[in-house]
Amino acid sequence: MIDVDTRKPALGFGSGGVSGPGLLPVGVLATRRVAKAVRLPVMGIGGISKATDVVQYVIAGASLVAIGTAAMQQPRLPGKIVGDLESWCREKRVVLSDLRGSLDWET
Ligand SMILES: Cc1cc2nc3c(=O)[nH]c(=O)nc-3n(C[C@H](O)[C@H](O)[C@H](O)COP(=O)(O)O)c2cc1C
Repeated sequence: MIDVDTRKPALGFGSGGVSGPGLLPVGVLATRRVAKAVRLPVMGIGGISKATDVVQYVIAGASLVAIGTAAMQQPRLPGKIVGDLESWCREKRVVLSDLRGSLDWET
């Protein structure tokens, strides 16, 4: 974000300081790019507020995820997301780790 009066970055570190749902698409894409570039476990972070957000990160290549803003708003949410993830996997008949890095996109 840009401060239009000073024409300087409006956020903390310049390109940082954004959190919450608006960050989800950026975080998922970054996770995909990093996961393709390294042979290390990658943590997905940014905008997670529900189980399918976690699934997006895993499909993009994340081995683990972190929840910031949503957990500050609702401290019990991470526990609920774990339960919802189990239900989602059961319903879809998938094992979460099998989805890791399974994005069907040639970019
Ligand atoms: C109030 C607040 C404090 C944060 N403090 C740190 C920090 O000390 N170190 C760090 O690496 N990230 C920090 N972050 C960034 C979060 O770890 C996370 O990358 C970011 O909030 C995006 O995830 P979210 O959308 O789930 O919040 C902070 C975020 C918030 C909202």
